[in-house]
Amino acid sequence: MSHANISFRFSNAIVCQPGQSVARGLCAENRGQPDFRKFRQEHASYIDALEQAGLKVEVLPPQEQFPDSVFVEDAALCLPQGSIILRPGTPSRLGEADIMAASLARLGHETHPVLSDGFVDGGDILVTDSVILVGLSERTDRNGYESLKQILSDWGYRVRAVHTPEHVLHFKSDCCLLDSETILATSRLAESECFSSFKILTVPEGEEAAANSIRVNDVVLTPDGFPATAELLAREGYSPVILGVTQAALLDGGLSCMSLRF
Ligand code: GLY
Repeated sequence: MSHANISFRFSNAIVCQPGQSVARGLCAENRGQPDFRKFRQEHASYIDALEQAGLKVEVLPPQEQFPDSVFVEDAALCLPQGSIILRPGTPSRLGEADIMAASLARLGHETHPVLSDGFVDGGDILVTDSVILVGLSERTDRNGYESLKQILSDWGYRVRAVHTPEHVLHFKSDCCLLDSETILATSRLAESECFSSFKILTVPEGEEAAANSIRVNDVVLTPDGFPATAELLAREGYSPVILGVTQAALLDGGLSCMSLRF
């Protein structure tokens, strides 16, 4: 079954402001601590961009006990049938799911927990109109995938497990849906042939981090510092909006993981 317009046509988003504790967020390699004030500024510009794209944005207050909680997308998956509360696959982030469940319930969402003892980070889930791809990774395991698949299949979605490249935090660190048929991806991910039914635009060499962009209604939010990707997007008829995400990038984060869009 095709689910038209669930993948990039949105009316709402949920974000969570970074707290001071963001300086202690997880990162695979130490590239320096994020600066709280600069993070707040970049986050405010991100909210502005979502609003400019037509979304009503719910801003949750900082969750100081969870340094990575600004990356809200890892704790839930919001679809028209309801919101699935995920199980982030690293101990310091597991509790974020309870906070998100409470916030979503308060906002009137019907919530469904992922039941098994597996793990899924939302950053590993790419929703397209025809299939939901779930990247198995260091954060998302087979048990988590199977229990998520159960719920999604009951709702009529096609779901497929794929692989997040080694040493890459999340599947969507390396790709972004541009429209119903087109994906922007790094060549290392595209080479795994997980996008068999899609047209692929490959991010230029050296600009791999730009694959973590997001299509939001008529624009594509894309990180600053990757001019060849911005040019590629414009040349292909998309409307790139360039945003600074230097502080999130220090924590292996990017544009997709800082909002839940629905
Ligand atoms: N800092 C983002 C994460 O590791 O989940």
